[in-house]
Amino acid sequence: MSQTIRKAVFPAAGLGTRFLPATKVMPKEMLPVVDKPIIQYGVEEAIASGCDEVIIVTGRGKVLMEDHFDISFELEHSLAQRNKPGLLKTAQLVARMAHVSTVRQKEPLGLGHAVLMAKRLVGNEPFGVILPDDLVDSPGNPCLKQLIDVFEEKHASVIATQIVEGKAISAYGVLDAKPVPGFNGRLYEISDMVEKPKFEDAPSNLAIIGRYVLTPRIFEMIETIKPGAGGELQLTDALRMLLQHEKIYGYVFEGKRHDAGDKLGFLKATVEYALEREDLGPDFLEYLKSLDLNHMGRGKK
Ligand code: UTP
Repeated sequence: MSQTIRKAVFPAAGLGTRFLPATKVMPKEMLPVVDKPIIQYGVEEAIASGCDEVIIVTGRGKVLMEDHFDISFELEHSLAQRNKPGLLKTAQLVARMAHVSTVRQKEPLGLGHAVLMAKRLVGNEPFGVILPDDLVDSPGNPCLKQLIDVFEEKHASVIATQIVEGKAISAYGVLDAKPVPGFNGRLYEISDMVEKPKFEDAPSNLAIIGRYVLTPRIFEMIETIKPGAGGELQLTDALRMLLQHEKIYGYVFEGKRHDAGDKLGFLKATVEYALEREDLGPDFLEYLKSLDLNHMGRGKK
C-alpha cells in the first residue's frame, strides 16, 4: 500500500516565553540541542516516517528557518575549497532533506490556529503534526511513523500519548479512553479529552504529547470552535468536536520524549543526546563523571 501520509506540519510560531531572553528574537525551534536546531530533529523524524513535504508554521524567525533548510552556496563553496568533505556533506544534507514550505501565523492565536494556517498547503488529505519542541528519541522506529502505522490500519486520527504518573499529569492534555485489542496494548479509543486537569479530576494517566496524525476534517472543526482564553483556538477543543464525527485513537508511543521548550527539559535532552553521540559521548561522560556533584547544583545565580 502506498504511503498515505505525505505531509508533516510543524507549528513553530509560539512565543517561547519559557525560554526568554534566548527567544526574544530567535524562535525556540532554532535553539540547538548539541549541534542541530530543535526543528531539524523533527524534520528528520518526518522524513524517516515517509513524509516528503514539510510545512512549517512560523511567526518570528521565518527567514532563519527557511534559510536553515535552504542551500547556502557561500558555505558549501567555502567548505569545498577548504577540503572539508564531512562538514560539506552535513551542510548539503540539511538543504536537501525535504521539500520545505513555510506559512505565517501572524499572531500566536493558539496551536489550533497554527494548524489551521496550514490548511491550504495540506489540502484534503490526512497529515502529520509534529510539535518541534517535543523531541522524541525512538531509534529505528520514529514516533510519527508509529502513529502512521495505526492510521493505515484504523483510517482515523491518532494522537501520541505518554503515561504520566502522579500530579505531573496536570501539565498535559489528558485522554478519557479505553484500551483497544492489538498493537501490544498500546492503542486506546478516545471518548473525551481534558486540557490540564487537576490531578483528582484527570480521567486517566494518558497524556497527549506533540505528535498527531489528523484527518483533514480537523480544519472544519478548528474553523467552528470558539476562541478560548486570550483569543486562542485550542487544538484540543477542535479534537473534542471531531470526536462527535469520527473516531480518534491514542497511541502510547515507544521511545523517550523530552520537552525541549522548557529549560530543564532542554538541558536533559542536551545531556542525553550528547551522551548518545559516537563522537562526543565517551569524552562527555568522562567530563560528567569528573564533576564534584556533591558540591554543585545549589543554584547560586
Ligand atoms: P507551546 O505552548 O509549547 O509554545 O506550544 P509557546 O507558546 O511558544 O511556549 P511558551 O509556553 O510561551 O514557552 C506548542 C507548540 O505550538 C506552537 C509552538 O511554537 C510550539 O511548537 N504554537 C503555539 C504555535 O505555532 N502558535 C501558537 O499560537 C501557539
